[in-house]
Amino acid sequence: MKKSETLRIAIVGATGLVGRTFLKVLENSFIPIAKLDLFATSRSAGTSIVFKNKELIVQDIKNINFANYDVALFSAGKDASKEFAPLAVKNGTLVIDNGSYWRMHPQVPLVVPEVNFEDAFKHKGIIANPNCSTIQLVVALKPIENKFKIRKVEVSTYQAISGAGQKGINKLLKEIETGVPVDTLSKHPIAYNINFHTIQSKFGFSEEEIKIINETRKILHRKNLKISATCVRIPVLVGHSEAVSVITKNEFSLEEVEEVWRQSPGIIIVDDPQNEEYPTPKMVEGTDSVHIGRIRRNPAEKNGLMFWVVADNVRKGAATNAIQILEHLWKVAPERIFSFQKMFK
Ligand SMILES: NC(=O)c1ccc[n+]([C@@H]2O[C@H](COP(=O)([O-])OP(=O)(O)OC[C@H]3O[C@@H](n4cnc5c(N)ncnc54)[C@H](OP(=O)(O)O)[C@@H]3O)[C@@H](O)[C@H]2O)c1
Repeated sequence: MKKSETLRIAIVGATGLVGRTFLKVLENSFIPIAKLDLFATSRSAGTSIVFKNKELIVQDIKNINFANYDVALFSAGKDASKEFAPLAVKNGTLVIDNGSYWRMHPQVPLVVPEVNFEDAFKHKGIIANPNCSTIQLVVALKPIENKFKIRKVEVSTYQAISGAGQKGINKLLKEIETGVPVDTLSKHPIAYNINFHTIQSKFGFSEEEIKIINETRKILHRKNLKISATCVRIPVLVGHSEAVSVITKNEFSLEEVEEVWRQSPGIIIVDDPQNEEYPTPKMVEGTDSVHIGRIRRNPAEKNGLMFWVVADNVRKGAATNAIQILEHLWKVAPERIFSFQKMFK
């Protein structure tokens, strides 16, 4: 059994938006790092990224030897996760994966530390990070579920273009600069516009909408939770916003709801709309908490609650959440990092 006082970490997808944010979050983490290596495709192998005032050279993922690492933080898209995560697991390396490929696999826990950290203990080599819009939603829903029991959820997302990675940011900035639509992600411009994610399902839902529905059910352990979603991309660089409508089983007062959220980790309430105090993407950029405001009753429903949730999609929606999973494991069950039953032999 491997055992150590420090961790050997590989970052796969280190040159991307989330990968670079992993590094920023790790710089401020208490995790003791013995070794940190960066990987991406051959396109960016040889380039360098600064970590704690030291230049680290990015290596081609094809040359990785997972036996040299205790943990691999993946943010390289679903194809890379599909191909390389099993290799990591076979070598006894714990994978914390930001991509979508493994999230709904029955042997892979899908974890938001404030909500279902205990699921992480059951991992067999891969722990998945949920989709960015799911993370902020479940952080807000879990205290409501615990105290008042949820009957139904309807969510509409207003997602920053950085959710589509660096190419999303490049598209928006280029379109603002030139006034000409850039033909990536969508044939529609995103500057001064709203786009849907690609609609793929025969039921007329986008992949993003299906992710938020399925992932919320898995994380809350509510297989049959009534939940529907409409997801759009808006011309904001960072910070996903969501308008959420919930119907609960038990009665509540708005004071009780606020109190439950105030007692819950990872949540900040900003709710004085008459004085223009409510969460906005600009307000949350660079932060690690989920911000909730516009808390009000739904006049059309008995036990109906409406609110607005905003979080930094690249930090809490991706990098921060993954590192928090690692930090929690390191604190409460470090043996689950070094030794586990493998889902791939
Ligand atoms: N952006 C968000 O808000 C967000 C939130 C939650 C989850 N995620 C997920 O996190 C992942 C990365 O997102 P991102 O926004 O950081 O994207 P990004 O900016 O496009 O970066 C992608 C990174 O993955 C690397 N990569 C691509 N294909 C690879 C392969 N086959 N093998 C190894 N490395 C590969 C790229 O390397 P090169 O530089 O060499 O091309 C780059 O480092 C995606 O799965 C995404 O769904 C993103």
